[in-house]
This record gives sequence, structure tokens and C-alpha cells, in this order.
Amino acid sequence: MYSPKVLEHLDNPRNVGTMEDATSRGEATNPVCGDLLHLYLKIADGKITASSFQAQACPPCIAAASILTEMIHGVTIDEALLLKAIDVTQALESLPRNKEHCSVLAIDALKAALKSL
Ligand code: FES
Repeated sequence: MYSPKVLEHLDNPRNVGTMEDATSRGEATNPVCGDLLHLYLKIADGKITASSFQAQACPPCIAAASILTEMIHGVTIDEALLLKAIDVTQALESLPRNKEHCSVLAIDALKAALKSL
């Protein structure tokens, strides 16, 4: 069963969609489950000022991407690079054990976007 926080983000996912004026973009996929996540970042003065995502993915993956866009708002690039999948899982309160890799996908997309700077 999903946590109340996961359900809240599924009901009302934040920052969904492309970002035409993104500073950087990252993509991550999980070859096992086939989920695909695109993350868009706008960066100014070394800080993430906006982000959005598009997902062809399972519900907890959408929740992970949604909460990640909240977690990275206003943080520096160095702070964002320190984020780990467990931080996303904890922000979601919990994920079923067989869905913990959805947080990994979100972090992989973030790292890919930061790498593309
Ligand atoms: Fe694989 Fe969500 S089920 S990333």
C-alpha cells in the first residue's frame, strides 16, 4: 500500500510537463521495468530555480519525480548532487520494497540533467 504522501502526489503531481527554456535536461530509464523519466531544470546563479518532469512510468515513479521537483527547488547544484534515492523515498514517507527503485530513477534523471550542464 502506498503512503499518504505518495497518494497525495499521485492525486496532484507537481511540475508536470516540458520546459521550453530549460537550462538542462536529463533522462533516465530502467531497462527492467521500462519506466522512462525526463527531468527539466532551470538554473540561475548556481541554484535550481525551476524544474519539471515528464514520465512514462508507474505511479510511484510519478510521485518520486513530483516530490523531487519540490525537493530541488532553490537548492544549489552542489546540494542537488548530494541527494540520494533514500532522500526521495523518505520524503515520500515510504515506498513498497519492490518500488524503491522508482526513487533511483528520479535521482538518475537529476544526475543526468546536472551532468548535461
Ligand atoms: Fe520501475 Fe517505477 S516500476 S521505475
